[in-house]
Amino acid sequence: MNSYRESIAEVLFDESRISAAIDEMAAAIARDFSGEPILVVGVLKGALFAFTDLVRAIARRPNGPSDLSVETIWASSYGNATRSSGEVQLRKDVAGSIRGRNVLLVDDIVDNGLTMQYLRELLVQRAPARLRTAALLEKPERRLVNVRLDYVGLRCPNAFVVGYGLDYRELYRNLPIIARLKPESFAPEN
Ligand code: PRP
Repeated sequence: MNSYRESIAEVLFDESRISAAIDEMAAAIARDFSGEPILVVGVLKGALFAFTDLVRAIARRPNGPSDLSVETIWASSYGNATRSSGEVQLRKDVAGSIRGRNVLLVDDIVDNGLTMQYLRELLVQRAPARLRTAALLEKPERRLVNVRLDYVGLRCPNAFVVGYGLDYRELYRNLPIIARLKPESFAPEN
């Protein structure tokens, strides 16, 4: 088996649970945007995996959006740490105009909520027709800001989690599961 398993304390969500959550989100999104075009914006880098699986799951739904385009935006606030710096940095913007378009912003996790709030406020200023937000995971206990979340896949306990896009020091994003790391897997933070 892969060596990453030695670093994992507990699998919180396995592949089938993640896939079922993505499918449920896709069903709701397809219903809400039935017959309308939609631009799905994935938040780099963490949402890469949830984003690509979600857009394909939307495409599998009958009576979904009339057209689906994809874009990416890159925001970051954690750096190498397990705690947010509290300051969101925009590293890459979406290309082109979103004015008058239906936009769905997709992130992997909403933790304290600052990233989603920052991106929502940034995009809403550009006058999209509808702006909706989706997150595969949310940690309600950690929320600092009351940001609107339209689609949520899974409620996550208050623990630092990795896998399926989520990293610790850029590692573990490739895991097909979402898991808690063993304490000894963390480097000392000062
Ligand atoms: C993570 C995650 C979310 C954000 C959520 O990104 O992908 O975008 O943090 O945290 P918040 O709700 O507390 O703001 P990170 O800054 O680690 O960048 P990355 O996606 O490139 O890993």
